[in-house]
Amino acid sequence: MVEATGAWAVDACDALTGPRFSDHPDYLFRPYLGPAHLNAVEQVAAWMGEVGMTTRIDGAGNLIGRYGEGAKTLMIGSHIDSVRDAGNYDGPLGVMLGVAVCAALKTAGRQLPFAIEVYAFGDEEGSRFPAPMLCSRAVAGSLTLGALEVADAQGVGLAQALELNGLAMSRFTGARRDPSELLGYIEAHIEQGPVLEAEGLALGVVTAIAAQIRYAVTVTGVAGHAGTNAMALRKDALAGAAEMMLAIERIAGQGPSDLVGTVGRITAGPGAPNVVPGEVHFTLDLRAGTNEVLHPAEAAIIAELKAIAHRRALGLHLDKTHALPPSPCDPAFRAMLSRAVAAVGVAPRDIVSGAGHDAMIFSPITPSAMLFIRCKDGISHNPLESVDPADADLACRALLNFIDQLEAADV
Ligand code: GLV
Ligand code: MN
Ligand code: MN
Repeated sequence: MVEATGAWAVDACDALTGPRFSDHPDYLFRPYLGPAHLNAVEQVAAWMGEVGMTTRIDGAGNLIGRYGEGAKTLMIGSHIDSVRDAGNYDGPLGVMLGVAVCAALKTAGRQLPFAIEVYAFGDEEGSRFPAPMLCSRAVAGSLTLGALEVADAQGVGLAQALELNGLAMSRFTGARRDPSELLGYIEAHIEQGPVLEAEGLALGVVTAIAAQIRYAVTVTGVAGHAGTNAMALRKDALAGAAEMMLAIERIAGQGPSDLVGTVGRITAGPGAPNVVPGEVHFTLDLRAGTNEVLHPAEAAIIAELKAIAHRRALGLHLDKTHALPPSPCDPAFRAMLSRAVAAVGVAPRDIVSGAGHDAMIFSPITPSAMLFIRCKDGISHNPLESVDPADADLACRALLNFIDQLEAADV
């Protein structure tokens, strides 16, 4: 039974685990358009229905719950896909808080002069297709040419995955919203870092979201017998990739503290103990608060990877799969969120987000802002993710206060 509290939102995230809501038997993994994602859509839609929200699924597979009516719409969103071996709250908490907020409005019999639409985005993480935030980009109308020509690790293309789920590629871009209908976009999310906890604050107001770039890197050597190939004569793709990873770590580590570089996935083929690896694929995720920091670091890393490949006589292919500029949050929305945070008894604290969020997709088209919620030990993208229900309650009340302010502003 849906309750108008943050504590319910936390419980609801916990309920979205287990075999029905994960595509891996041993841990939480909910990639876009997998069976677990579809089951999650069904469950969240049922919760939205309990609150009297009308639900629909758009062409990109996003679930939308609409509360109230009005010429304009305030979007409250986040994602319900997950990384591999995920925690329970990265994404779903923002969606559940949106539902809890609507439950509170309904309980109070509030008629707002605008509609609220809670968006449960299907893909934010890019866990399945190498295209993060595909679903929010469809809604914002900012899909780049070729963005939809992606396939998952099993070779299933987006078009086929959509079709298997009763959706159609031809309708994907139909998820787009006309910005003139929108009042703005707001997202609540766990901080995914340690700052709020260290400062004893339950909530924070995001000022901006860091820029991010991803590459798919392929290193090609020559596979051969591990016993007969003298060390000096090998073209070992994995040893070369290892040197490249250390170079990435070194270059990112030499920059300012907002510059971070990660190799999060690597596969080596053919993958046998007695074969020199002939081909390696790895991902590079590079982020910084500004393009002025990010772009020189990107250039330095590419130059170094090329130099390593040249020295080792290896092939190197770099495919830029993703790039988002830094995204400032809307000053007026930030100010309202700061007042909302203060109204629930928390000292307003501005904070930059190193993690990417759907909010960064909306800031170019409509006023967008984010409310961060303290998480235990700053841990995220990890099953140990934990959030205090009392903090989620404060977030729920702050969101309601934000909505009060928006109403009072006579928008
Ligand atoms: C999403 O969690 C991201 O920042 O990659
Ligand atoms: Mn995430
Ligand atoms: Mn997230």
